[in-house]
Amino acid sequence: MPTMIDNTDTRNVLIIDDDDAVTTSLALLLKQSGYAPYTASNPEEALQTLGERPFALALQDMNFSRSTTGEEGLVLLQRIKGRYPHLPVVLITAWGSVELAVRGVKAGAIDFITKPWTHEQIRQSVQTALGLAEFRRTEATTAPMSRAELDAVHDFSGLIGKDPRFVRMLEVIGRVAATDAPVLITGESGTGKELVAEALWRNSARKEHPFVKVNLGGIPTSLFESELFGHVKGAFTDARQSRIGRFEAADEGTIFLDEIGDLDISCQVKLLRVLQDRTFERVGSSTSRTVNVRVISATNQDLVSMIETGSFREDLLYRLNLIVVHMPPLRERKGDIPALAAHFLHCIGGIYRRPDLEISPDAMDWLIVQEWPGNVRQLKHLVERTILLTPRNSLRAEDFDMAAHMQEKEPTKGMVPQPGRVTLDEMEREMILRSLKEYGGNVSRAATALGLSRGALYRRLEKHRIVP
Ligand SMILES: Nc1ncnc2c1ncn2[C@@H]1O[C@H](COP(=O)(O)OP(=O)(O)OP(=O)(O)O)[C@@H](O)[C@H]1O
Ligand SMILES: [Mg+2]
Repeated sequence: MPTMIDNTDTRNVLIIDDDDAVTTSLALLLKQSGYAPYTASNPEEALQTLGERPFALALQDMNFSRSTTGEEGLVLLQRIKGRYPHLPVVLITAWGSVELAVRGVKAGAIDFITKPWTHEQIRQSVQTALGLAEFRRTEATTAPMSRAELDAVHDFSGLIGKDPRFVRMLEVIGRVAATDAPVLITGESGTGKELVAEALWRNSARKEHPFVKVNLGGIPTSLFESELFGHVKGAFTDARQSRIGRFEAADEGTIFLDEIGDLDISCQVKLLRVLQDRTFERVGSSTSRTVNVRVISATNQDLVSMIETGSFREDLLYRLNLIVVHMPPLRERKGDIPALAAHFLHCIGGIYRRPDLEISPDAMDWLIVQEWPGNVRQLKHLVERTILLTPRNSLRAEDFDMAAHMQEKEPTKGMVPQPGRVTLDEMEREMILRSLKEYGGNVSRAATALGLSRGALYRRLEKHRIVP
């Protein structure tokens, strides 16, 4: 077994492919991007070259001339990973051989590119793989950081929490922010996934560029392509003007694909393509466009079991989950409840001009023992409701208890309720439900009636968990 060569400082990249035209063009491209390319045309040559000098990365084709099953490629990958477990290997496979690519990732490949590739795709993939490899290498060796240490180097403002699990999650966020690697954020509803997605972007090199949030659960299947990729004038009946899609809007920045588990299977393949090669066409146009985006996604669903039941594509998961960040539920970090409650008391008290509010010690104990199935969002809503229902400044346990049990009363038709009877949130929800009913569930018309853009209404539908 060869000695482990430290590969932290090298720009050497090995290209393994039996097609000279491929190795030559990849070598040229990598050289232009500041790497030092080496080439190998068969497995033996590849292993020999790897033993001669340190490498930062290998780009490996899966098919060598003798067979097209990819088995040879898998064997080579396993031999490389056996000798150089820390060397990131990016596979090149034919489009459509998804199963092979997935087997490759399971066997230790860091990423895969499908043919035909674009220059941009190779450049991004190489850069991401290097960033990711650096992250994995340091992950195992660095001592855990404290919240104060993290705050000294990152901007985690607005993210409250000191619990060890939460802090470890922040540490991962801080370290992966700098890479371009896709991040999948999982966790129950209300745990702060969206907040964390924004923090990732805010701490990344893309922070001066857009952060575009797309709620995939809120987009009807029929509008998916035009919403994400845009359309040209006349592409369909309602397309009176050309419109850019969310991917173009996010160019140079970050796109946040929220509720990815809600995406219809027919849309998943369309999404896969743009994630694969960063190219797409506007609806009604045949011109391909390329974007440079970082992809963050989130879900409160178990995508692995969705794969088992056939409702989520495995290849799509491997495009999204190069890094997975799991948000702990609030009941597993109860130590953070006092700080969170105090934070919401301060923010919401400010909005309602009640700066002298405080939570009594018995109320704090009450808050800590609750189970919080709706997590931080539920805590925030309860604090708000309790403030509105309690005229005193010192909030006691029974005030929270009452607010928690208070039935949401239907406001009398047409009448504005007394302050303190319902929260603004409840009124908003009620108005939205009424408009949707009025317009038979037509979101565009309901949005117009409410004086909102369609996007703004979709955000509120999500917030109130209303399905139009
Ligand atoms: N650590 C935290 N510090 C401060 N506020 C938080 C924290 N975590 C969550 N919140 C607040 O709780 C609410 C819910 O958070 P968020 O929308 O990010 O949850 P989510 O995980 O995306 O939920 P869902 O799955 O329902 O979309 C937001 O108002 C957010 O500001
Ligand atoms: Mg969310």
